[in-house]
Amino acid sequence: MTATKHELLRSHLQNLIERELAPDERLPTERDLAQEFGVSRMTVRQALERLENERRVYRVRGAGTFVARPAITKSIELTSFSDDMRRRGLAPGAHLRTAESVPAGASVGFALGLSPADEVVHLERVRTADGVPMCIEHTYLAAALVPKLLDRPFDNSLYDLLRDQYHIRLVRAEQSIRATVLDEATATLLQVPAFSPALLVERTAYDQRDRPVERAMSTYRGDRYAFEIEVVRPATDGTA
Ligand code: GLP
Repeated sequence: MTATKHELLRSHLQNLIERELAPDERLPTERDLAQEFGVSRMTVRQALERLENERRVYRVRGAGTFVARPAITKSIELTSFSDDMRRRGLAPGAHLRTAESVPAGASVGFALGLSPADEVVHLERVRTADGVPMCIEHTYLAAALVPKLLDRPFDNSLYDLLRDQYHIRLVRAEQSIRATVLDEATATLLQVPAFSPALLVERTAYDQRDRPVERAMSTYRGDRYAFEIEVVRPATDGTA
C-alpha cells in the first residue's frame, strides 16, 4: 500500500517533532509544507491543528508553529493494560478466551474504516493483575494489517506484539469511558457478584501512519480501577 500525501505529511511532521527539531524550535511554514507535499494549506493546517490538540506543537500568532516540550504527566499517554499494571507495581497477565477471524460488522467496521464484510481478528482476553482478574477485553484488529496474527501466542502484551512483529506502534487513540454494570457471565469471569459496577472503556487506536488499527471494548472492575486524566486549559484561546 503506498502512503497518501496526507500520511507522508503527517509522518514528516512527526519526524521533525521527535527527531530533527528541539523544543521551542519553529516548524516550516504552512505554505512551505503545502508546496513540498503538494497538498492544500487547509490540509497542512488541519495536520498542525491535530498536533496542537495533542500538545505536541504550539502556535504563536504571527510567529509560526513551534515544537512543544514533552508532557510530564503519564496519565494522558496512550498506554497498554500491561503498562498500566506495571506502573502500579502489579504483574500483568492475559487468559485468551477467544481468537477468531470474523466480519467486521457495521460498528467495528466504521471505527476501523472497513466495510462490514471485511475480516477482522477478534480477541477476547481476561486481563489479570498479580493473577487477579481485572478486566475483560474484546479487541478487533483489521486482519489485513496483521497477517497470521492468529498463529501467534497471546499470553503477553498485544501492543508489544504489534510493535515487534508488525512494526505497528499505536500512538494515539479516541477513547470513551462510561459506567456500566456487569452481566452475570462477565461478573463470573471477573470473580465479582453479578451486577457489580464496572467501567466500560471503548478505544479506537491509530498507528504512526494514522491508520485505525484497533477497536477495543474493555470492561474494568469498578472496585479495582480508576482512571487519571489530566485536563488542560487551551493556551492560546485569548482568555487569561
Ligand atoms: C488497554 C486498552 C486496550 C488494549 C490493551 C493492550 O487495556 N484498553 O484497547 O488492547 O490495553 O494491552 P496489552 O498490550 O497489555 O495487551
